[in-house]
Amino acid sequence: MSDQHAQKQAAAKAALRYIEDDMILGVGTGSTVNCLIELLPQLRLAGAVASSQVTEDKLRALGIEVVDLNFAGTLDLYIDGADEVNAHLQLIKGGGGALTREKIVAAASKQFICMVDDSKMVDVLGRAFPVPIEVLPQARSYVARQLAQLGGEPVYREDFVTDYGNVILDTYDLDVSDPIALEQQLNNIVGVVCNGIFAANQADILLKAGNDGVKTILH
Ligand code: A5P
Repeated sequence: MSDQHAQKQAAAKAALRYIEDDMILGVGTGSTVNCLIELLPQLRLAGAVASSQVTEDKLRALGIEVVDLNFAGTLDLYIDGADEVNAHLQLIKGGGGALTREKIVAAASKQFICMVDDSKMVDVLGRAFPVPIEVLPQARSYVARQLAQLGGEPVYREDFVTDYGNVILDTYDLDVSDPIALEQQLNNIVGVVCNGIFAANQADILLKAGNDGVKTILH
């Protein structure tokens, strides 16, 4: 398994064994999850809760019933990808801009399985990949100044609006050595809707695909 897409497909296939008949499944967003979505029609799901409009459209196109999270109760399982993962299964997410809805569905689920290829593993989060931060449009400039005070370098994601009508500041150079503390600190900035550090509620199971197959890592 050398090519990255094949690794994503392998991780998605490995996730299938956690999905039970008649489940309402929480479905993430991104190219790895797209590999999983392609496999879902062969299962007998009761429905799915989507973590983005893009995912919702893909699920519907395959005839899978999309359920509003408000009517689904607590989900047994949420499956998603990530942009970076550390050894504690803490993540950076939001490269696709769906971080807020992803964090909500993950929080409303008993178990969170993350599927990645090898390239996503890092020692320290946020050194290579910026932390995406969803911000109310009116607060963009204020929040950017607060992030700069924390040592971050926020970059406004041009021509992008989230599913909730907000903007994203991709923030480089933040010190993410204590991901739980920083996640909370960023949430406390007025105007921040959500940030892409998934540490307080990290993944429970990591399916990591590499040249030597898919490894299962438990939190
Ligand atoms: C979407 O907003 C992200 O959180 C994705 O889950 C993340 O970017 C992983 O995407 P890929 O599977 O495309 O790498």
